[in-house]
Amino acid sequence: MAIADAIADDRAYVMQNYGRAPMVLARGEGAYVWDTEGRRYLDCLAGIGVMNVGHAHPAVAAAVREQIGQIAHTSNLYYNETQPALGRRLVSLSFPGRAFFCNSGTEANEAAIKLARKRHAKAGRPDRYEVISFTGSFHGRTYGSLAATAEVHYQEGFGPMPEGFRVLPFNDLDAVRAAVGPQTAAIIVEPVQGEGGVNPADPAFLRGLRDLADQHDICLIFDEVQCGMGRTGRMFAHQKYGVLPDVMTLAKALGGGLPIGAVIGRGEWGDVLSPGDHGTTFGGGPLVCAAALATLDVLEGENLPERAERVGNVLVEALKKALAGLDAVKEIRASGLMVGIELTFPGRDLVEQARQKGLLINCTAGSVIRLLPPLVLTEAQASEAAAIVGDVVATAAKARLSA
Ligand SMILES: Cc1ncc(COP(=O)(O)O)c(C=O)c1O
Repeated sequence: MAIADAIADDRAYVMQNYGRAPMVLARGEGAYVWDTEGRRYLDCLAGIGVMNVGHAHPAVAAAVREQIGQIAHTSNLYYNETQPALGRRLVSLSFPGRAFFCNSGTEANEAAIKLARKRHAKAGRPDRYEVISFTGSFHGRTYGSLAATAEVHYQEGFGPMPEGFRVLPFNDLDAVRAAVGPQTAAIIVEPVQGEGGVNPADPAFLRGLRDLADQHDICLIFDEVQCGMGRTGRMFAHQKYGVLPDVMTLAKALGGGLPIGAVIGRGEWGDVLSPGDHGTTFGGGPLVCAAALATLDVLEGENLPERAERVGNVLVEALKKALAGLDAVKEIRASGLMVGIELTFPGRDLVEQARQKGLLINCTAGSVIRLLPPLVLTEAQASEAAAIVGDVVATAAKARLSA
């Protein structure tokens, strides 16, 4: 199908809630994708942090093919083999507890919030429902997760938001100390904020939240939807910090490209829900769980978290060199292969310029160029990406000076 026809059909038959680049992607392999005209791109966005194992990984493809040939969906009225196997695997990789499976990041956060409130309600404290989140956070687009998302523009036109949500400044422990009380049910935080512009939490902030949660019996939720699954150099970002959450949410890269979300409740947080309390038709189905198990095999078998750390350092060093001396660059922030370059001006146009040079990246929080490449990225590919980013930033900075 010609690009123009695909775009025309999209405009006619698909709700226009996305701003899309004018290209049609047809296939991928490792860190590369190809459009329908055969043009190759170095994919440093990986479907927004989803394809951590790279595109079309043969082991994930084989597991999906095999599972769909056996049974794809069972509903949660019956047991299947893959869901408990995935629960066991995630728990063994993180902390003792239990998993709940859903289909996306927003649903995982929704479930985590419900879990926190339910535990207090069950203990006779139904008025304990406030959820604290932080500036720069993004937790999803369904109402609970949206109410916890700090950026109000995501909420505009969709009000009223559910009550019981409060946003505090990120990395400001004193503000949290002053705000928590007998009304607080949960604190939800991304150990490394993604959409907010790649902002790592201060280690002392996460440690302080852990202490406050312990003192006040608050559920500490780590949203690792974007920063989990090896992205930051450890399988889970909290392991880098050495701070345990009560509840961790996952999605994005967990299914190797198939939609799956998970909530891991540590210890007693895994015991809160009873039959009928919460659920979803597709959650934890055999197909997505088989994909996730194969994805975990690849992440572990190919040491991709370690690779994210190593190649992330190469990428950051190369970016520093490529961007050296440019006043347009405020800061480069990174954790493993989660990299943000904050500019002094809006970065949206640079995304298109990079695409025209064969590199896929995006811009978040208005002025942060973000790279979330597959963790299979090679050092040579990291250098190539840095050179293109350096080129487009320098060109844009020069154009602004002469304007
Ligand atoms: C940290 C974080 N939480 C939640 C979400 C929502 O995930 P989903 O788009 O799968 O609903 C995202 C998506 O970007 C995210 O980055």
